[in-house]
Parts: sequence; structure tokens; C-alpha cells
Amino acid sequence: MTNDLRLGVNIDHVANVRNARGSDYPDPVRAAKLAEQAGADGITAHLREDRRHIRDGDIEALMDCLSVPLNFEMAATPEMQAIALRHKPHAVCIVPERREELTTEGGLDVVRAQNGLTGYIEPLRDAGCRVSLFIGADEAQVEASYRVGAAVVELHSGAYCDLFHEGKFEESNAELKRIVDMSTYAHSLGLEVHIGHGITFDTVKPLAEIPEAKELNIGHFLIGEAIFQGLEPAIHEMRRLMDEGRATL
Ligand code: PXP
Repeated sequence: MTNDLRLGVNIDHVANVRNARGSDYPDPVRAAKLAEQAGADGITAHLREDRRHIRDGDIEALMDCLSVPLNFEMAATPEMQAIALRHKPHAVCIVPERREELTTEGGLDVVRAQNGLTGYIEPLRDAGCRVSLFIGADEAQVEASYRVGAAVVELHSGAYCDLFHEGKFEESNAELKRIVDMSTYAHSLGLEVHIGHGITFDTVKPLAEIPEAKELNIGHFLIGEAIFQGLEPAIHEMRRLMDEGRATL
């Protein structure tokens, strides 16, 4: 059995609850520390252009207090690049961002943006950040990610998970197959494979069974589940299911 699958916990939604009332609680940094104690291998936080959840001060505090790596999610803007270069987090995950969206709806169009992305990634890589691109499970996007110099691709699992929860199992399986195939392809190019978005207790195992997957990034479901069973037990259960999936390898 191989068990080399990391769990990255995204704490953005703790900040959403905090910001809903303009209070200073619940503190996403406290949640990150708790997640770390519960066995998270990394913490993910998305600093949006409009600062709707995570704020600059949260990133600073996370950089100061975490023992596990921070995966800093951001749009490919000059402002975010400057912030990343100031903090030099372990990883930078570049995501598409539209102000009106509720969450990161689709993957980055690396094929279209490749000319700009190569130069954008270079200083981040030189600063020691592992640069990851959040993309749909699509061959052209994987290939372009390799070409622009990314170290990692994070494959978007939102469609697979959503279709599963809508009971559209045939379509969901087709999406899963795309993720499986593109994990193999990305790995063959030397890219590290991460998977994220929309993952729940019901959808995690088939993703954990993908041998090339090295990290799953999970936020919304875990923070929601924490209301019912607490963050630590929710993370333990996710970890257990990931281990179960991994044990089939
Ligand atoms: N990975 C990336 C790149 C994301 O943008 C998000 C959402 O912020 C996640 C993972 C986590 O998705 P979810 O909150 O649906 O688990």
C-alpha cells in the first residue's frame, strides 16, 4: 500500500462566517491551527481581489504560525504576485477569478493565457514557490501548463462531485474518468497532480484511488461538516476515507 496522498484544508469559509457579521471571529487562523493538529498536511487560503473572505492580515498570520505548508490561492494579477513574492509561501495556486462568481467556477484557460503566464510564473518559481495551475481535466490545458513552467496542476473536481450529488452517476463517472486520464497524462509530463473543488465524504474515495494524485484540497464541505461534528472529527473522517481509497492501490 502506498500512502503519499496529502490533505490540504481550505479555511476560506471560516473567514466567510467571520465577515458576514464584521466581527473578528471565527478566526480562520485558529481553524488552520486546529486543522493542522487534526492531521492536515497543508492549509489553503484564497486571497481574492475583493477580499471577500481571506484578508491580507490572515495571510500574514498564517505565514507566521503554521508548521505545515501554506498553499496561497490567487488570481494572476500584478497585485497578487507582489503579495506572494513578499510572503514566499510554499505553494502558489493560480486560479481564474470573476467578481460575480460564488466560488472558482471553472479552471484557468492556460492555453489562452500562456504567453503572459510564462513570465508571470518565473519570478514566483525563482522565489522558491511551487506554482500550481487550477485547470479543468483537459489535455490541451495540461499540456499548456507544462509548457508555461508550472510544477503542479490542480485538476478541478467540481463537475464530478456536483453531478454525483445530483444523482447523475453516468455523467459523474465520465467526469471522473477525465480526471483519472488527465492525472496520468500530467504525471507523464512530470507535473505533480493535485485535485480539488467540491469534494465530500461521498466523492473522495475514487479520487484517492488515483495513483498519480498527490494532494486533495478540500474546504467548503469540511467547514460545513464542522458545524455538526467539529472540525477535527470531520478532518479525521476525511483522512480515513482517503486512506481507505489509497489502500486499494
Ligand atoms: N482548490 C481550488 C483551486 C479552489 O479554488 C477551491 C475553492 O476555493 C478548492 C480547492 C476547495 O474547494 P471546496 O471549498 O469546494 O472544497
